[in-house]
Amino acid sequence: KILILDFGSQYTQLIARRLRELGVYCEIHPCTVPAAQIRAFAPRGVVLSGGPASVLAAGSPRADRAVFELGVPVLGICYGLQLLAHELGGKVHPADHREFGPAFIDVKQGSPLFQGLPPRLDVWMSHGDRVEALPAGFEPIASTGSSPFAAVEDRARRFYGVQFHPEVVHTPQGKDLLRNFAYRVCGCSGTWSMRAYAEVAVEQIRAQVKDGHAICALSGGVDSAVAALLVHRAIGDRLRCIFVDNGVLRANERQQVEEVFGRMFHLPLVTVDARARFLGQLAGVTDPEQKRKIIGREFIGVFEEEVERLAQHGERAAFLVQGTLYPDVIESVSFKGPSATIKSHHNVGGLPEKMKLALVEPLRELFKDEVRRLGLELGLPKESVQRQPFPGPGLAIRVLGEVTEARLELVRRADVIVQEEIRAAGLYEKLWQAFAVLLPVRSVGVMGDERTYESTCAIRAIESTDGMTGDWARLPYELLARLSSRIINEVRGINRVVYDISSKPPATIEWE
Ligand code: XMP
Repeated sequence: KILILDFGSQYTQLIARRLRELGVYCEIHPCTVPAAQIRAFAPRGVVLSGGPASVLAAGSPRADRAVFELGVPVLGICYGLQLLAHELGGKVHPADHREFGPAFIDVKQGSPLFQGLPPRLDVWMSHGDRVEALPAGFEPIASTGSSPFAAVEDRARRFYGVQFHPEVVHTPQGKDLLRNFAYRVCGCSGTWSMRAYAEVAVEQIRAQVKDGHAICALSGGVDSAVAALLVHRAIGDRLRCIFVDNGVLRANERQQVEEVFGRMFHLPLVTVDARARFLGQLAGVTDPEQKRKIIGREFIGVFEEEVERLAQHGERAAFLVQGTLYPDVIESVSFKGPSATIKSHHNVGGLPEKMKLALVEPLRELFKDEVRRLGLELGLPKESVQRQPFPGPGLAIRVLGEVTEARLELVRRADVIVQEEIRAAGLYEKLWQAFAVLLPVRSVGVMGDERTYESTCAIRAIESTDGMTGDWARLPYELLARLSSRIINEVRGINRVVYDISSKPPATIEWE
């Protein structure tokens, strides 16, 4: 296993991800982790990440020097290289010009780090300072036009440093370099898998929760599902899953959740039927932010009451399970900034402080595709694992204008058709999302010999990799035609279908 010490780079998680892809177990710890803990971890190798600071600045982050005395290989990346040079007696200087973006390096043959790689490599640079003089024992093993020390080694001590970032995709052969480090230099075997990840996560959850009780808000989405399954493996029925039927779910959603998690996986599942409560609070409300706030608030209310009810029965939960992924961890940091609120996102974020619950977040280090693989590993059906995202405020933000039972039913029925046709066209997994939106617009039509004056439905289909940006999908005309004719013919109350051709930005994916 490999220890990654984090000096604050935005790419640190990518190092972990690449090593996991190589079948190597690794953990990220802050660079300040005490020496005793490092020794107890007993790594086969250590990676020092990049970071935004300068090793020359007073108070810049350092690792305990014990790292260099473990007798195991060390790979310093960017800031990590500079730190290595600085701590072991070399010289680091602020560069005259910063190197940022694509570059290429010329490799000196013979180092295990570059074994099997061509003599010239495209790499991604992002640094200000540079190493001017190497510590004793070090040799350069790659250079760029402007820097003789793009990569260095002390082969006797097995210390390596690279000025570029092998963990990013812009360094196409970076993964081979990391493989060389992990396999050849550290002697890792690459047999670690998502199954092993599950085992480690289960152990960690047990150590955290001990004999306590935990609760989890299941949404039906893949993240909360995988998190719940892991925790259930760890602590069994001391986990309670709560599924809130808020009245703004899609057709059959509640039944599917009960089927998969209750009957298939035997998760201790409580369904709370809060439809009347939510719809009552939403009555007459048309403002999108207000809808979002009401749903967030009511959700917390329902959840708190349910947790209190369980506590009355002797199950006082001290832990809240959340399916937080690594991208959420980064995003929630930038979310705290002064940037304008575009939409108040509803999830269970407000719960823990209010209820004094400690968080259990077993997916915090993973990316979405890794969670999907982990879900399959845990036996989740493929359909659950590949599910498109569905927003917390549900159909309330897809029924523009007032949310009534009748209008919800229209969007539900139109959405079923969208799902069926998108799947039949083989596009479900290619699209980020595809769904129906009910507009607060009525228009005139003719059906048979009758005049109609009915609702309009918009179809939204988006291609995106992360939901942050996206473009409308160029769906085939034939598919659009079928969607339109089926919705108008099969959903009484809708007589017009339009296709949303707005990208994000400037539009958002959801209409509210
Ligand atoms: P927007 O509409 O902001 O949506 O472009 C980006 C992605 O986020 C989903 N979304 C939400 N997810 N709670 C969620 O958990 C929310 O309140 C929420 N609002 C939007 C949306 O479906 C899209 O995938």
